[in-house]
Amino acid sequence: MRLLISLSILLIVQLSATDIQTCKSCHPTIYNEFQNSFHKKSTINEDAVHKAVWEKHPAKAKGNYKCAKCHTPNVPKEKQPHQGISCISCHTITDIKEHQTSNSNIYESKDKTLYSAQKGMEDKKIVYKEERSWLGLVKKTTGSPYHDIDYRNKNFYTGRVCMGCHSHKENGKGFKLCETDMRGAVSKKTNCISCHMPQVSGTATTIRQSKTHAFHGFAGVRNAPELLEKYVDIFYQKSNDGFTLTVVNKAPHKLLTHPLRLVQLRTTLKRADKKQSLKTSTFVKIIGTAGKPSAPWLATEIIKDNMIKANEKRVITFDTKLQHGDEIEATLGYYIVNPKSIKKLGLEGDKALQSFITLKHQYFKIK
Ligand code: HEC
Ligand code: HEC
Ligand code: HEC
Ligand code: HEC
Ligand code: HEC
Repeated sequence: MRLLISLSILLIVQLSATDIQTCKSCHPTIYNEFQNSFHKKSTINEDAVHKAVWEKHPAKAKGNYKCAKCHTPNVPKEKQPHQGISCISCHTITDIKEHQTSNSNIYESKDKTLYSAQKGMEDKKIVYKEERSWLGLVKKTTGSPYHDIDYRNKNFYTGRVCMGCHSHKENGKGFKLCETDMRGAVSKKTNCISCHMPQVSGTATTIRQSKTHAFHGFAGVRNAPELLEKYVDIFYQKSNDGFTLTVVNKAPHKLLTHPLRLVQLRTTLKRADKKQSLKTSTFVKIIGTAGKPSAPWLATEIIKDNMIKANEKRVITFDTKLQHGDEIEATLGYYIVNPKSIKKLGLEGDKALQSFITLKHQYFKIK
């Protein structure tokens, strides 16, 4: 029996963002999921909110699409800003460079090496191999015929790989517009990847069958929020002069991180077949200047910030005395764009951006 090792000649070719069609041929499930993600839709073509903010941005007049660094990386100038984040925008990240204004990704550009994580493979790099029988028939293959896989990149075993784009961003005035705490990225067990890319059914590649794969729709505000529902809890407790609801945020970052969002807890009481709305609590982080909300590029201060914090248990008190048989319905949800900003951004025509999206629904029957 002969052992024949043949390296694919394709390995000489460099990877580019347009390779996404190639990735599809061997990773169709992941590719299809990715089409609905807001990584794929991170451009002014596919994200109306991004477009609306960019249209008003002073850099637009100068033709300087500086959002490219995170919204359309690895895309040649002529395709800017119309092609979004691609497979290689993550799988060729070698390291993260930390910086005051915003972090950066350092990309591999030499060869067809892709980085990934797999338990038990932490010290391995897999180069494609074919084992043939003496008749020359392929008996067994190892790795991918299209690319090498390097499992040694530590950034893929925590959420650090996400932090080149997600960590923070300062505007030209040195004011931090948004921040996703690095603490949420460092654990090997619970991190950006474990929550936002949970294992879902379906094989990762057509060549080697697996029962599950990491979800590449990237569960979030815009896509598949239902996959994150379990990281939020609502508890009921009776108190002396009414009751309390406690919202538990299990995420290691603010419940929502983007300053355009608005979160609400809506509560209704059902008593003897009569429904009555109780108080609605609103959670926001509003940025601005001189005490007033402003466009992000002008902001110098936080005007208001009562957003539910990382791992916080927020207690909301109600002064309604409940009776036996009462039913309480609590809904925690959000608007993608704060209704107060919809008009300013010219997004009135977009119904989806104006609807209240439910993240968690909880029902309590009073004994
Ligand atoms: C000709 C088929 C083929 C093409 C084209 C291909 N892959 Fe793969 N890929 C595979 C196979 C097979 C594996 C599994 C290798 C193994 O399990 O040893 C794999 C594994 C991977 C892994 C690592 C999975 C893990 O175990 O963590 C990543 C990441 C990946 N591919 C990304 C891509 C990207 C991105 C592209 C497009 C640039 C691409 N692949 C194109 C066949 C392909
Ligand atoms: C340092 C990386 C980075 C840069 C540079 C960047 N963004 Fe973003 N942007 C993000 C991330 C990450 C998100 C996802 C939301 C979050 O993490 O809070 C986002 C989300 C957004 C959203 C919300 C989109 C939605 O789905 O509702 C808008 C609007 C936006 N960015 C506009 C811009 C504009 C306009 C520019 C350029 C002037 C820009 N961004 C530059 C990283 C960046
Ligand atoms: C314990 C689970 C958990 C972990 C760990 C986690 N998140 Fe989240 N994340 C959530 C939940 C819950 C939400 C809010 C629900 C939603 O987006 O639909 C959320 C929301 C988000 C959003 C949308 C925010 C917005 O305003 O648009 C982004 C972006 C995000 N997370 C990125 C990250 C990054 C980056 C990390 C790692 C540093 C991380 N998350 C770690 C659970 C988690
Ligand atoms: C935003 C970053 C990001 C993008 C974009 C991305 N991936 Fe991934 N991918 C990851 C991370 C992180 C993992 C490792 C997940 C884990 O360890 O559970 C992964 C895992 C994989 C795996 C192995 C899955 C498994 O569960 O074994 C394959 C295959 C893969 N990616 C292919 C692709 C393809 C194809 C695309 C484009 C259609 C793509 N990725 C886009 C970050 C990304
Ligand atoms: C190349 C930059 C980049 C990298 C790397 C990156 N992201 Fe993002 N991510 C973005 C941008 C930009 C957006 C906002 C796109 C938009 O809405 O227009 C975003 C949005 C998101 C969202 C919100 C999706 C939604 O439906 O609201 C989640 C969740 C997320 N990213 C998770 C991750 C995770 C987990 C990783 C690491 C595995 C990661 N990202 C790596 C740039 C990046």
